[in-house]
Amino acid sequence: LVETAVESMAAATTLAELDEVRVQYLGKKGKLRALQAELKSLSPEEKREFGKMLNSVKERIQSALNDRKEALEASEKSGPDLEMVDVTLPGVRTLPGHRHPLIATMEEVKSILLGLGFRYDDYPEVESEFFNFDALNTPDWHPARDMHDSFYTTKGNVLRTHTSAFQTRAMKQFGPPPLRAMTSGRCYRRDEIDASHFPIFHQLDVIAIDENISFADLKWVLYQVASSLFGDDVQLRFRPSYFPFTTPSAEVDVMFNGKWLEILGAGMIRPEVLEAGGVDPEKWQGFAFGLGLDRMAMIRHGITDIRYMYENEEAFLRQF
Ligand code: PHE
Repeated sequence: LVETAVESMAAATTLAELDEVRVQYLGKKGKLRALQAELKSLSPEEKREFGKMLNSVKERIQSALNDRKEALEASEKSGPDLEMVDVTLPGVRTLPGHRHPLIATMEEVKSILLGLGFRYDDYPEVESEFFNFDALNTPDWHPARDMHDSFYTTKGNVLRTHTSAFQTRAMKQFGPPPLRAMTSGRCYRRDEIDASHFPIFHQLDVIAIDENISFADLKWVLYQVASSLFGDDVQLRFRPSYFPFTTPSAEVDVMFNGKWLEILGAGMIRPEVLEAGGVDPEKWQGFAFGLGLDRMAMIRHGITDIRYMYENEEAFLRQF
């Protein structure tokens, strides 16, 4: 009896089938009960012997049942049967992450300049008026210092209005020239919001200081950057301009789709600024330029409204 019971247990491949076997042998109408019923017709002595035997049969069946149950439970838990996987079902598509057009543009300009030997560092967004203005030869009567342009935070501090604030910080930090350095990041100005103005925008600023640096060096670097971004046949236009911290100064336009578009400000660093950075202007000269990354990203991707870049609208972001 034990043997046939164990055989049918082995044949059971699910817990439900195994339970049927249990009922067959140990259930109320099972085979063991039927044998127990026969006890009545035996002599007291035979009863004792037969009863003992029945008990041991019951125990052996019960323990075999437990073993088989454990084995089946383990295999049911071990996951789906591989043969059940439908390989014709389409996969679950995960959308890859990607760079924001602004960051992509920034990284591209940055990598061109890294290749030309400029070091990259980040500088504070909450900046002292000193580094943002005074050190850049921007006295306090200058329109750029007006409350209309700047966000003032604690006394003496502003949200930087341009990344040019890094210039004298870098000169002080890295000691005597030669120095080639850049930074980029968020800048803040109080502006009415429209398609081309937003109170947050991004710039990338560059300085190079050495002996015998001239405007020709500046032009060469700008052509390197511009041709990497817009192609070898890029056209640049230099217009005389004014910045408090450079002289001579220029605004630079790029020819794009038949139009001149202003992309950056540049010039030779004024002696006052070199002095504020602890650099001897009798010995060293330098150039500086700063470009607007929002503008650049918009030109490159045909983006018509600056606000798209700050709304995190998925439909917009997915296009890049
Ligand atoms: N900081 C200037 C601006 O925000 C750009 C500039 C940078 C001009 C460096 C000259 C040199 O417009």
